Amino acid sequence: MTDKIKEKANLKLNGDLYDFDVHEGTIGPDVLDISKLYAQSGKFTYDPGFTSTANCKSTITYIDGEEGTLLYRGYPIDQLAEQGNYLETCYLLLNGELPNQDEYTKFEETINEYALVNEQLNRFFTGFRPDAHPMAIMCGVVGALSAFYHDSLDINDPEQRRIACHRLIAKMPTLAAMAYKHSLGQPFMYPKNDLDYAANFLNMCFGLPTEDKNVDTTLAKAMDKILILHADHEQNASTSTVRLAGSSGANPFACIASGIACLWGPAHGGANEACIRMLEEINSVDNIPEYVKKAKDKNDPFRLMGFGHRVYKNFDPRAKVMQKICHEVLDHLGIKDDPLLAIAVELEKIALEDDYFVEKKLYPNIDFYSGIVMKSLGFPMDMFTVLFAVGRTVGWVSQWNEMIEDTSQRIGRPRQLYVGSEHRQYIGMHKR
Ligand code: SDX
Repeated sequence: MTDKIKEKANLKLNGDLYDFDVHEGTIGPDVLDISKLYAQSGKFTYDPGFTSTANCKSTITYIDGEEGTLLYRGYPIDQLAEQGNYLETCYLLLNGELPNQDEYTKFEETINEYALVNEQLNRFFTGFRPDAHPMAIMCGVVGALSAFYHDSLDINDPEQRRIACHRLIAKMPTLAAMAYKHSLGQPFMYPKNDLDYAANFLNMCFGLPTEDKNVDTTLAKAMDKILILHADHEQNASTSTVRLAGSSGANPFACIASGIACLWGPAHGGANEACIRMLEEINSVDNIPEYVKKAKDKNDPFRLMGFGHRVYKNFDPRAKVMQKICHEVLDHLGIKDDPLLAIAVELEKIALEDDYFVEKKLYPNIDFYSGIVMKSLGFPMDMFTVLFAVGRTVGWVSQWNEMIEDTSQRIGRPRQLYVGSEHRQYIGMHKR
């Protein structure tokens, strides 16, 4: 897919006139190419948080925030979640097209081949306290992969990049399960090639070497859909972190470790854990009005976790699918009247009828219901963002690879508006 120059934009500054090409993509907002603004005018643009800034061209994911639609390589997220599976979605995000049966089978065999991790990596886990947050462990052990897999570090070799992408997709569930087992003091479970990706992950998390229990297929399907919903989301904070790290030529494992670190924040992927903690703190539907009041109070830092989004000004389509998965899993487990779900449903109803949330176009996002589902699957709260990271790895590596292949990309190096001290002379300690 290519873009085309649609027209020119003019800027009048201090009596001078500047022209900028307006590029039109396949769908979505046009962009003004201001890359020559500083060279021509000596001025920077200013856009903290990048609310109006595109940092790349991409063919991978498209979000329409007003409509509440999300497309992976043009395919709607709800269709992929309902009709496909996570590994097929990984192939699509990596390669741009859905696989045929032969391509899928070969891809699945490749991912299975890379699912094990070097046994020496097991020793890394003994260095972490049992109460270490699993995201802290993931930051460490994923970055450490670059100390083991030297044959997939050369970012200029397309074959090594392909291997690195496959290794990361394959090893993230294994490492995530090891982080969880470490917290339990239980033995690590090896991946099993006769299980599909999601079932394999659940088996490595909840299986024991002392028994050969079948993975619940309904829960495995729910896990698979959760991974699809988290797979990619265009230039979000952690993906932008991965791109920026990759722009310096850092190896793929280090770049993904930087994405994991960024995702951990409660404003981003950490919101699923923060949302459950919020629902537990609310504790009763009777307390909802008090917390909605706090969320609206400018002087109170409290926010409704799992609500609001930089791009979606309508429902996050993933939240709708996640809500459906939530009901399916709870029904399958025979959990009636889950107290946290009751609070979440009532909170959503009250918030969506409140002028504050309506005016600010704040809707539930992917993190609002995901925690309830993850908790019902048996995961502790501190594993929720790890599950997000497992799902998002394919998006990170796909976006990283696209950036490396983009010949126009250079090292990312933003500028600033300097508001600090003017030039001044050093004063000796005795004179201060
Ligand atoms: C993810 O970018 C992605 O795509 C991310 C993600 C992905 O898949 O990668 O979708 C995953 O990170 C989802 C978001 C998870 N985070 C949360 O649920 C945390 C709670 N949400 C907020 O912190 C917030 O909504 C953000 C961070 C998600 C978005 O922040 P923005 O775009 O910077 O919006 P903002 O902070 O400027 O808010 C606009 C207004 C503000 O009020 P005013 O200053 O205009 O008066 O809305 C208010 C905010 O105070 N607001 C909220 C709110 N979110 C925004 N008020 C109460 N509760 C909230 N949740």
